[in-house]
Amino acid sequence: MNIKSICCLGAGYVGGPTMAMIAAKCPHIQVTVADFNVQRIAAWNSDSLPVYEPGLDEVVRSARGRNLHFSTDIKAAIASADLIFVSVGTPTKSYGIGAGRAADLRYIESAARLIAEVSQGHKIIVEKSTIPVKTATAIKSILAANSRADATFDVLSNPEFLAEGTAVEDLSAPDRILIGGETTPGGADAVEALVSVYANWVPRERIITTNLWSSELSKLVANAFLAQRISSINSISALCEATGADVDEVSRAIGTDSRIGPKFLKASVGFGGSCFQKDILNLVYLCESFGLPEVAAYWIKVIELNDWQKSRFVEKIVRTLYNTVTGKRIAILGFAFKKDTNDTRESASIAVCRDLLRERAQIAVYDPRVDADSIRQDLVEAGVDPELINTHLQICDSPYTACQGAHALAALTEWEEFRNLDLIRLYDGMLKPAFVFDGRAILPTAALKAHGFEVFVIGKGV
Ligand code: NAD
Ligand code: UDX
Repeated sequence: MNIKSICCLGAGYVGGPTMAMIAAKCPHIQVTVADFNVQRIAAWNSDSLPVYEPGLDEVVRSARGRNLHFSTDIKAAIASADLIFVSVGTPTKSYGIGAGRAADLRYIESAARLIAEVSQGHKIIVEKSTIPVKTATAIKSILAANSRADATFDVLSNPEFLAEGTAVEDLSAPDRILIGGETTPGGADAVEALVSVYANWVPRERIITTNLWSSELSKLVANAFLAQRISSINSISALCEATGADVDEVSRAIGTDSRIGPKFLKASVGFGGSCFQKDILNLVYLCESFGLPEVAAYWIKVIELNDWQKSRFVEKIVRTLYNTVTGKRIAILGFAFKKDTNDTRESASIAVCRDLLRERAQIAVYDPRVDADSIRQDLVEAGVDPELINTHLQICDSPYTACQGAHALAALTEWEEFRNLDLIRLYDGMLKPAFVFDGRAILPTAALKAHGFEVFVIGKGV
């Protein structure tokens, strides 16, 4: 099957950048990204994209209007496509059976029903969203029960491995593309059709094909393993602080073992992002559902350790500031869950700010990319009393404003600009002792100390 027209349902952090890359690399394929979120689509069609990613503007500009289109006309986009990516959200379910663990599959189901309603002829449906293993069966059953007589479908799994902040790099030179399909002749043809799309720029040896269930499960497992490494090194960061060891030195020492490798060993105030926690919870729920409580208990520890890491950071601040932060101004540098993104989902900053606000601290937040409304909304959603937000939260337009009159600063996102702050200006603006809590081990510790700051760095013993 020769793919000439692609549609993607969901214009979010995955759908937008992924389809922009396909369109840029495959000028012979028409690509339409469809979403019912009118504002989001308007932003994708404007000069101010809804997703901040280094290099993304250029990729979008190179193809938009030529073979890349963003539209709210979902039905028309489905009708004209040979291949449909489903890239809708799959958040953790917050109600009913499996609440707090299972993936909420309502958007997947609504996408499948819409595809069934509109489709004629043969179409390939591709799960791009991260979903529980066996979701393809549910999609196939919805399609079979609701489609027209002349409509036929193949369902593939093609999980996305991009990381935010490096999406363009990850998409243009991926470690691998994973495609799962049915082991029938029709399934094999569908897999080959999708392989041919990626083969326009990805070497064939990097395109892995598997059965459907291996592909669906591999996505959850990849994220669980990555998060597990962070929780492992974060657990050791606490031991380093207690013993006088230095977690960065330990990471370097173990990471040079080629069996361990150096990546994802940077201790932090805790991992965030829309994926790790959600996908581990999803894995845990699957294990529980399949009667494997020991496996579930093993993986849930990764999240528990991450929550503990965030709360022990807050406790460190409170204890150091003479056991009370009530009424004290604390500058928070960084609100995004990592550098080079405007995404704040599950950011460690949310938990730290929430807990400090509950201690009645005065919080002054600076982040170079996150807008004030998102910060306020995240804190409301985290359960902070809106009145407390009104009276105790200030959003600042520079790190110096945030630190003016502050008892302490806490660095929570590893933005490059935090590495080169004017320390004299910061110090002069702060109350003394001027405390620094570096939750990312990115600030120049020796220089800070030389300027008179009292410094605590995650994973560094005294
Ligand atoms: P997102 O919330 O940013 O975007 C999802 C979009 O889907 C929303 O704009 C929503 O309006 C739209 N949508 C919902 N139902 C729809 C429908 N029926 N038709 C059209 N649009 C519809 O989510 P995201 O971060 O892009 O994640 C999407 C999926 O990709 C999730 O399953 C996630 O786990 C997975 N994933 C995300 C990342 C990441 O870095 N964010 C990486 C890999 C995988
Ligand atoms: C992750 C996966 O990396 C990606 O493959 C998947 O498709 C989506 O989920 P993402 O969440 O965007 O990507 O970013 P990632 O770079 O994995 O960082 C996640 C969190 O872990 C961030 O808060 C980051 O700061 C933190 N982190 C990462 C650490 O604390 N230490 C590390 O060594 C690496």
